[in-house]
Amino acid sequence: MKENLDPGEETNTNEESTLDNVHHVNNPVLDLPQIEKKYLDEIKSYSQSENTYYFYDGVAKVEVKVITDEIIRVRLAPQGTFLEDFSYAIAKKTHRISRHQCIEEEDAYLVKTNTVTCKISKKDFLISFENREGKIMNADHSPMHWEENPDAGGYYVYCTKQTESKEAFYGLGDKASTFNLRGRRFTNWNSDTYAFAFNQDPLYKTIPFYIGLNDGDAYGIFFDNTFKTYFDFASEDPVKTSFWSEGGELQYYYIHGPHMIDVVRRYHVLTGTHYLPPLWAIGYHQCRWSYYPEANVRHVAEEFRKRQIPCDAIYLDIDYMDGYRCFTWNKQYFPDPKKMIFDLANDGFKTVVMIDPGLKVDENYWVFKEGKENKYFCRRGDDYFMEGYVWPGRCQFPDFTNPEVREWWGTLYQGLVEDGVAGFWNDMNEPAVFGRGTFPDDVRHNFDGQRGSHRKAHNVYGMQMVRATYDGLKKLYKNKRPFTITRAAYAGTQRYSSVWTGDNMATWEHLKIGVLQLQRLSVSGISFCGTDIGGFTGEPDGELYTRWVQFGVFSPFMRVHSAGDTRDREPWSFGEDWEKICKKFIELRYKLLPYIYSVFWEQTRYGYPILRPISLIEQHIESNWQREEEFSFGEKILVSPVLNPGQQSKIVYLPEGDWYYYFNNHIFQGGQEHNIETPLDEMPIFVKAGSVIAEYPVMQHTGEKKIEELLLNVYFGKGINKSYLYTDHGDTFAYEQDVYLEKCFITSGTDHSLDIKQQLKGLFTERYEEYDLKLIQLPFDIQKVLVDGKEIGYQKDESGYYRVRVSKDFEDILIQG
Ligand code: GLC
Repeated sequence: MKENLDPGEETNTNEESTLDNVHHVNNPVLDLPQIEKKYLDEIKSYSQSENTYYFYDGVAKVEVKVITDEIIRVRLAPQGTFLEDFSYAIAKKTHRISRHQCIEEEDAYLVKTNTVTCKISKKDFLISFENREGKIMNADHSPMHWEENPDAGGYYVYCTKQTESKEAFYGLGDKASTFNLRGRRFTNWNSDTYAFAFNQDPLYKTIPFYIGLNDGDAYGIFFDNTFKTYFDFASEDPVKTSFWSEGGELQYYYIHGPHMIDVVRRYHVLTGTHYLPPLWAIGYHQCRWSYYPEANVRHVAEEFRKRQIPCDAIYLDIDYMDGYRCFTWNKQYFPDPKKMIFDLANDGFKTVVMIDPGLKVDENYWVFKEGKENKYFCRRGDDYFMEGYVWPGRCQFPDFTNPEVREWWGTLYQGLVEDGVAGFWNDMNEPAVFGRGTFPDDVRHNFDGQRGSHRKAHNVYGMQMVRATYDGLKKLYKNKRPFTITRAAYAGTQRYSSVWTGDNMATWEHLKIGVLQLQRLSVSGISFCGTDIGGFTGEPDGELYTRWVQFGVFSPFMRVHSAGDTRDREPWSFGEDWEKICKKFIELRYKLLPYIYSVFWEQTRYGYPILRPISLIEQHIESNWQREEEFSFGEKILVSPVLNPGQQSKIVYLPEGDWYYYFNNHIFQGGQEHNIETPLDEMPIFVKAGSVIAEYPVMQHTGEKKIEELLLNVYFGKGINKSYLYTDHGDTFAYEQDVYLEKCFITSGTDHSLDIKQQLKGLFTERYEEYDLKLIQLPFDIQKVLVDGKEIGYQKDESGYYRVRVSKDFEDILIQG
């Protein structure tokens, strides 16, 4: 079938030519139907089974299922029989629905929940979604349609929606394009794309979820289909947005807003969130292709400590293995890995190692032998093994869509875990095969008993690999949280792993692409994401490297990585001046750790994206829909990375309200643009007025120091503001049993007073006793401080900030002017 399908084209059959075309020379079959695009026809009947409604046009059937008050699923069965209801993306199947009903009107059926009405028009089967006020949020342009695929079986399935003249589109995972996707067409087919270019497509990940911003109101569409899928956002025709697939079912979820952040949150309700990562995983990580032999690894670690540059993890890329055989060590380079890892751990470094899916065909290699004996490897249509070349040479590949294979794969990590390895990096899992790119379509997969060819399993292969890794590690580490990172992903991968954006380049353009990709991944459900800081291939100069480290502080995952043929990439590799700035910024990451960790908690627990683009923060302002460079990390800190060489200043838009420039606490008024100076050792970082941001002392790694007293930076703001602070063990799953502490600080500021209330939730206890409050920019001189009704003392520090020490258990602090 043609790559360049035209989704919107409505082909009319010419009766005469139909007969001509089916004429067969030897055996004329005159009534054989011609293959053509077919559209849903007039609705003939409807039925209901609990929260599911079925509409029938005599041949095809459509299911409209109420998932929650705000989420409705639509499915199409061209011949009236639905496929098995199975999805790798969906986290759980049962949800709370309050009320729903179907009302029959003269020309339409209305499936109504408390918030959404799904209208199915009788005559033409057009489906639309309306809010409570009757505003159409999203509507079909043409009825859902399909075309039979005689070669592979099944159907090409299509959905074409109307597009408003200014409608903006966001989401779709890792696409390297403008932030607003309008005017573009995309393909989802996980691809190993070394040194990809701006607008190159497809890339490594398939997240078939987008957010539409229709006249300022947001909704989401999640097209849960693992085959090769396509999205056209008013590119072919400005009044149409289409999504279609080369197979599988036309199945999508409409997700109601109207706030973009709620669409993202609800998408997380469907597909899950990332579990809380271990604290060390959000520190600074140093990676390289590859650090070896052992002496080299130890040297890098020693340099970090000698130079007092914080670092939590060192990565071993493929060269640690014996001939690239996964789950083995090259004993020449690493004669005693356990000892090395132990020593590194004593110095505060976690060791993370690479594991690829391709297993070397080698009868003397235990992993290959086990896989072969148990028939765990993928096979071609005619039963040959799927063989292809990757790093180790000729390889075979486990079928990760088989639950038994996943179980086995999980156990393979035991040896490395016993050696002390703390995290695992799954790569090349698009799957990548040298020469031909990936597997041929005829490779067969178990697909959790649903069976399928590679056409169906390709886009979930990487996800199922890292799922197997995560599930295995969860058992091996017992109650400790694993750390995993994957290159390929499908919707829902966030339940098992963090991601990085693959093999980028050391160019200023790629720094900008990274800023776009991480924001996009964040609103696409994959918040724990990062780029190869500094650029994977090519050589950054000190300035590009340093500006990228600055952006890295505000990347949820912060790791420097580079290709094997590049020069050194440690923070000190570019000379003293750059080292000093990099150190300052890596230290900043560690100071902000309690805030960053709390933002991760908001993601895990409540489904809020970690990076929040301006269009999400202020969707009601049209000029914000195109903004790409400013974003907030959590709710309180807004940044705008510097993306050009020699840049002395940049225009930064600040959302409404007051903002503090981080480096000098000057106040800027939001709701407008400002020209901000960008000296090399600063970047535009702003804190929202009214915030309480906890700060840790600089540590060389996350667990280094016990907190004796917690510094709280209180950025004065008028009116009422809430800030959250989260803590727990930092590495166990006890938080799932409520062993955590979520603090909410509620500040209310006036011209002559500031009140701070504290509310606590959870069962964890901090070991420190006191807070040290730093009161920033009070608009008055303090006359009195009352803590839970009792007056206490206060001082001014050397920089002129008021400081107040209070018990960590306070309920209310009243500061009066
Ligand atoms: C791939 C990965 C890269 C890694 C290299 C060697 O290119 O994307 O991160 O360093 O393989 O394993």
